[in-house]
Amino acid sequence: MNNSTKLNKNIIIGCTGSVATVKLPLLIKMLLDCECPIKFVIKIVVTERAKHFFDSKDIPLGVQIFNDEDEWKMWSKRGDPVLHIDLGKWADVFVIAPMDANSLAKFATGICDNLLMCTARAWEPTKPLLFCPAMNTKMYDHPVTAEQIGKLKKWGYIEIPSISKELVCGDTGVGAMAEVQTIYQQILECFIPPPPPSPHSLIRPSEKIVAIDEIQIEDNRDLKRNHPEQKDIVAEKNTITGEEFYEHEIEKNDCPINITRSYGQQQQQTQFPSQSPVDSTNIYMGNTSAPQ
Ligand SMILES: Cc1cc2nc3c(=O)[nH]c(=O)nc-3n(C[C@H](O)[C@H](O)[C@H](O)COP(=O)(O)O)c2cc1C
Repeated sequence: MNNSTKLNKNIIIGCTGSVATVKLPLLIKMLLDCECPIKFVIKIVVTERAKHFFDSKDIPLGVQIFNDEDEWKMWSKRGDPVLHIDLGKWADVFVIAPMDANSLAKFATGICDNLLMCTARAWEPTKPLLFCPAMNTKMYDHPVTAEQIGKLKKWGYIEIPSISKELVCGDTGVGAMAEVQTIYQQILECFIPPPPPSPHSLIRPSEKIVAIDEIQIEDNRDLKRNHPEQKDIVAEKNTITGEEFYEHEIEKNDCPINITRSYGQQQQQTQFPSQSPVDSTNIYMGNTSAPQ
């Protein structure tokens, strides 16, 4: 794609003291690739611990890297730049990849004792902020992780969830940072909408998907236990809003399930499939805006 016809966007990549910071050069490479449909200008903000996991020689010239020292060097008198504020004004999107357990906890509690956390805390809420948790499975499994991720999502930030794989420490389990390709795709989708969902979508394009915890799926025939041939629920994510929804794939379904959608005090019941049996149907389920 010709560079002059591309969208121009400014991005901050925040890195923390997770070993997944080793992937920073790859993410930058993908974002600067001539095949990338957006022309990005990139600035990096690192914590002191993040510096341990990459060599600045692997970062292309023209990509500025900022750390805590820069923030303090820049300001000596009134009128001097305040780096964490200026970075936030400059950028169109902010991705914290990886977000380690320590920085996640700080962000979730409002602590801003370094450049990265100050930039995050001062981030304009109308602009997308994506975060990619990355930590050992044992840390990930601690209940505080889900609580803090939930808090960030509630504030409107977009989680790019951790994946399960063999971690650098040798343990296998969830907590690894999402693949760089996934992060790249999610960044693009902040500006370029993904293709429309399945034609079988239960959610019309005009409907707004809201929090998943407001959806109840009542399996009135004990679908999964008595019908092992039924495929399991696949969690999906709306890549634009970052909110989650579910896709159920039901094959040769002759036993309806009830779907309850809650809109504040109101509830709406839907039965699926509604009438006739279907061979194979995808249903995208999510809560929708209040019925008109
Ligand atoms: C080799 C090594 C790898 C680490 N990897 C991770 C990690 O993947 N996730 C994590 O939450 N902490 C990890 N840590 C611990 C963090 O570096 C530590 O909590 C640090 O204080 C984080 O600081 P920061 O959030 O300011 O970057 C690692 C530590 C070491 C020594």
